[in-house]
Amino acid sequence: MIRLDKYLADMGAGTRQEVKHKIRKGLVSVNGETVRSPDIKIRQGEDAVSLEGKSMEYVTYEYYMLNKPAGTVSATEDPRDLTVVDLILEKRRKDLFPVGRLDKDTEGLLLITNDGALSHSLLSPRRHVDKTYYARIRGRVTKEDVRAFGEGLDIGENGREERTMPGVLEIIASNEESEIRLTIQEGKYHQVKRMFQAVGKEVTYLKRERMGPLVLDPKLHPGEYRELTEEELKGVKNVKNQHA
Ligand code: URA
Repeated sequence: MIRLDKYLADMGAGTRQEVKHKIRKGLVSVNGETVRSPDIKIRQGEDAVSLEGKSMEYVTYEYYMLNKPAGTVSATEDPRDLTVVDLILEKRRKDLFPVGRLDKDTEGLLLITNDGALSHSLLSPRRHVDKTYYARIRGRVTKEDVRAFGEGLDIGENGREERTMPGVLEIIASNEESEIRLTIQEGKYHQVKRMFQAVGKEVTYLKRERMGPLVLDPKLHPGEYRELTEEELKGVKNVKNQHA
């Protein structure tokens, strides 16, 4: 059960104040009857709520897979840049956020949801959720780099040591510009770029392909998104149910 004004505000009908105003103006009906009290209790999934004749179904959680385009920020609001949440046009919840962050110039898989518990478990350092990235690197990536990544690297700055856990580095092509795939289990700030910096190399393009059981749908071009399938949702929820 939830108050009518909260129900409508959660579904993006306006702020609590705006919604109260609409209710008092008689724009809202519950089970076909116009109501004027913002505090009446609604049974989500049972009562039929309409705003100006438009049915307002209640959705508790939403889960979107986004192929983040370069140039967008992994935030919910930003005064300058387009955020990853701005890209989700059909959202019904107004409390969506990205699960973790990708740099502004990074592309690829980002889960956008309002499920805080799920986000927490996917990001928990104790769960060691695999993140796989595809990257292009200036210069030749070598077997020696593969070995160094496999041992973990010091990505600390200003003489302060900061060791990463081992990462699995796979060379796809080693040329003036190399192509690699890297799987890591942490999410330190700029981690992939700093790991390559630690071996004297520069990332020129970075894209996340996988996060735990979730694999970026190859049909999604940068900027495109879709809801998670039942199967994908089951997979990510499974991470939550695993004991860490
Ligand atoms: N590592 C980075 O350096 N940047 C990202 O966006 C993600 C991982």
